[in-house]
Amino acid sequence: KPSGRGMRIVNWHDDRLGLAKMGKENLRKVFPDHWSFLLGEIALYSFVVLLLTGVFLTIWFKPSMAEVDYNGPYQLLKGTPMSEAFASTLDLSFEVRGGLLVRQIHHWAAILFVAAATVHMLRIFFTGAFRKPREINWLIGLGLFMLAMVEGFAGYSLPDDLLSGTGLRFADGLMRAIPLVGTWVEFFVFNGEFPGTAIVPRLYMVHILLIPALLLGLVAAHLALVVYHKHTQYPGPGRTEKNVVGYPLFPVYAAKAGGFFFVVFGVLTLMGTFMQINPVWKFGPYNPGEVTAGSQPDWYMGWLEGAVRITPNWEWHIGHTTWSWNIFLPGVCLMGVLFTLLVAWPFVEKWITGDESEHHLLDRPRNVPTRTALGVAAMSCYAMFWLSGANDIIATHFHPSLNSITYFMRGAIFIVPIITYQITKRICVSLQRADRQRLLHGSPSGEIIREPDGAFHEAHVPVSEEEAWTLTQQKTYPVLTAGSIDDRGRRVSKKRARWMKWFLGDNVPKVTREELEAARHHTEIGSGHSAGNAEI
Ligand code: HEM
Ligand code: HEM
Repeated sequence: KPSGRGMRIVNWHDDRLGLAKMGKENLRKVFPDHWSFLLGEIALYSFVVLLLTGVFLTIWFKPSMAEVDYNGPYQLLKGTPMSEAFASTLDLSFEVRGGLLVRQIHHWAAILFVAAATVHMLRIFFTGAFRKPREINWLIGLGLFMLAMVEGFAGYSLPDDLLSGTGLRFADGLMRAIPLVGTWVEFFVFNGEFPGTAIVPRLYMVHILLIPALLLGLVAAHLALVVYHKHTQYPGPGRTEKNVVGYPLFPVYAAKAGGFFFVVFGVLTLMGTFMQINPVWKFGPYNPGEVTAGSQPDWYMGWLEGAVRITPNWEWHIGHTTWSWNIFLPGVCLMGVLFTLLVAWPFVEKWITGDESEHHLLDRPRNVPTRTALGVAAMSCYAMFWLSGANDIIATHFHPSLNSITYFMRGAIFIVPIITYQITKRICVSLQRADRQRLLHGSPSGEIIREPDGAFHEAHVPVSEEEAWTLTQQKTYPVLTAGSIDDRGRRVSKKRARWMKWFLGDNVPKVTREELEAARHHTEIGSGHSAGNAEI
């Protein structure tokens, strides 16, 4: 071991902590570079900003529903009875130095956090990054996603202003609509009838302790698995299922990621400075008898709000019980369906393809048209629910009647996804055809050549070796018929064969090595006067 005074101190620590070995193993870890890998990082950094700003807010926020008369500097509410929670949020906004800025950064960071996690999830879905061995990280991610939404909801319920109370009333409705046990659930959560005086202190505990601790634990597990599996990479020259091409963690990636943290923090600070968010003094304190026109939740709750707004008023009365399908179905069931589908998808896909191999190379979305189309259909369905949540705003701004928006949306949530599914699938298949064409016949060069006999044609430029690598590096699966045996020796059932046809049936045949060689040969012979005009 090296000696010297400084090294002795280093060695003393190393003997006890084993850091040198761990560092040697991990500091050279390679991370590939691609903009879409920044989405998870944005979620991570906004989470850090939430933790920092959240601790600041806890110093002044009072999680109490005890009633006080407001006596602060905001004249319009002077003397108004309100909860201590609301009064302390007003103090945070008007009296605590930097309080409003930190409140606004905290709120913007919450919005960005959920948005980045959502788009990150879409990147994972569309590129197939959830496939073996990353299924568990997909599930951890879903846990993070769900907790993030609940955490945000708990957060904006804390100030106890009119908007937050309206949101809680909505949550109360969802709870009460749970068949048979609804009233008990409400009494359990609110310690009696809505709104009571217990909900803010309870949500406070959930918001600053319970969920942040769960989020921290899951984020740590999530990142540990990213390091353990190593990051995926997009297909490209020199990239295979067995390597990772990129920069080492130290120093390049650490410097980039550290810098990017400050970019995210800086942008959030600018937003907190210049863009007003949740001006609770304008809404006033919560009063169960009032709702402001145009009340809207934060964006990530809008889809549930919309679902409740457009569901018909179905209700059953059986014996002494009421079954409020008009809230239970869109609220509780819809959330259940969404998360069940998300949890199940990696396993459904694996069952259809029968593929047990590991995947470290990402899919280009066009190469898996059915998955891509399903994802876009789900996004469009979500968007329809989300728009329905703004039916009142659409009505007041664009003047259609509220009823016609409701009827339209009831149809749109079923029809729009079918249309977007078909269009996306067709676009993907066309892009596959275009790739095939380009591989075999080169790209159009824009150069028109006139032959001695007067005919015109456009010169084609053969794709480079690098691009050919990217375009051919796609695993394809055969579409097996019922009764045949798959490559793992299992007989394909009728059901699985049908699903295979649906999932894989539209793929354009992959260009084989022989086809590529033949096309190249043809190009060389024909390239005397134009570069690769094999076919026009
Ligand atoms: C308030 C979200 C983490 C402490 C809020 C609000 C939101 C929110 C949307 C309402 C802000 C407003 O008044 O406009 C989140 C999210 C988090 C998170 C999504 C993490 C994923 C934390 C943590 C703490 C914290 C870790 C404390 C350690 C607070 C406090 C308030 C608050 C004290 C009430 C003050 C206020 O409303 O101005 N949070 N938060 N938050 N948050 Fe968080
Ligand atoms: C990768 C953070 C949510 C699934 C990553 C990475 C980070 C990250 C920093 C590595 C960089 C990247 O690929 O973007 C987070 C944070 C989340 C979150 C802070 C906060 C809520 C999710 C969600 C899902 C998910 C909702 C899916 C449902 C994955 C998977 C990987 C990953 C499968 C590995 C991807 C690969 O190697 O290509 N996450 N993530 N994460 N995340 Fe997340």
